[in-house]
Amino acid sequence: MDRRALLAGAGALVLTTPACAAYPPQVPALKSVAPYPLGVAARHLHLADPDWAKLAVANFSQLTAEWEMKMEYMLRDDGSLQFDRADALAAFARKYGMKVHGHTLVWYAQDGLTFQRLKGDPDAFLNAYVGYIQKVMGRYRGIVRGWDVVNEPVWNDGRGLRPCLWREVLGDDYIGLAFEAARQADPAAVLFLNDYNLELTPAKRTTFLRLCETLLKNGAPLQGIGTQMHISADLAPGAVTTAIRDIASLGLQVHVSELDISLRGDPLANVVEPRLNQLKVFEAVIAAYNDVPAVQRYGLTVWSLRDKDSWLNSARERKGPIPDEPALFDDRGRPKAMAERFVAMMR
Ligand code: G3I
Repeated sequence: MDRRALLAGAGALVLTTPACAAYPPQVPALKSVAPYPLGVAARHLHLADPDWAKLAVANFSQLTAEWEMKMEYMLRDDGSLQFDRADALAAFARKYGMKVHGHTLVWYAQDGLTFQRLKGDPDAFLNAYVGYIQKVMGRYRGIVRGWDVVNEPVWNDGRGLRPCLWREVLGDDYIGLAFEAARQADPAAVLFLNDYNLELTPAKRTTFLRLCETLLKNGAPLQGIGTQMHISADLAPGAVTTAIRDIASLGLQVHVSELDISLRGDPLANVVEPRLNQLKVFEAVIAAYNDVPAVQRYGLTVWSLRDKDSWLNSARERKGPIPDEPALFDDRGRPKAMAERFVAMMR
């Protein structure tokens, strides 16, 4: 048997034998100590990386498609849908007994030529809008446990709803319409409204939570709040604690949906011990989430497995020559201080 086949065999062994998946003895597999689903963002290309696959399967119990379940990838210009990579991610999760969180159906940032072309015909637009949600969710019914039905609806400063194509054609109720369509498409899926900076910007959090309350009052089947938590190591830990407490106060499911803690960027320029700050902020996230009533803890998802997998280190987002270190595992797949602290906080 040649070396590659031998390794592949070993890899398969590790993938299917959780006991072998433990990392240095002092850091057991994270999912084995987590009292809630522990998620990780995954791109299709990660599935072809055996190191990524082994580390992800060993430590996480849920996947969120970082890109390939979004309209940007799935909706082609001719109006057809391509599910190939989302199917592959779902198949990978099924093979290794992982849950799947669906991200995301409606987002201001991605509307596609198909919808642009329908702008002048609100009825046709609405049919296509509902049709998209129902086709995508229908395909993954019973596979995807929850969906970010609408992503990032609120302006960064909290002044109100963001302008977007959906709102332009369908009005403010584009959100309620999306949730109704989602409920029809998959009665069992947990339906989320997801946004970022809810910890950094109290005014945005207030507007977002008011939006949730209005949706609920109007009968929208909103069941969960996704707080992304793309945060920076200079954030005051108390900001995280307050935000998660406020978010949980609505009594809905709470998903820390895209956690990463950046060590780069201007705010950190004068921080003496960025890694120490990062650990303190991470502790605040875990402590606050652990305090959320268990019935509301949908799960906690990190937005990259290893530092090198992070969007923050992509060509478009990178801030300067030194790579960011926002993840729980380093580039070689070794658990970092945040991973060790996660385990310690679960004891
Ligand atoms: O992989 C393709 C490549 O084949 C192609 O040549 C190239 C052409 O542009 O695109 C590549 O895909 C990129 C994809 O990431 C995978 O790397 C897309 O261009 C790029 O737009 C996409 O960026 C993603 C971004 O959302 C937009 O969808 C990031 O990975 C992803 O981390 C980021 O995640 C968002 C959440 O969805 C919402 N919250 C904020 C978060 C960070 O921005």
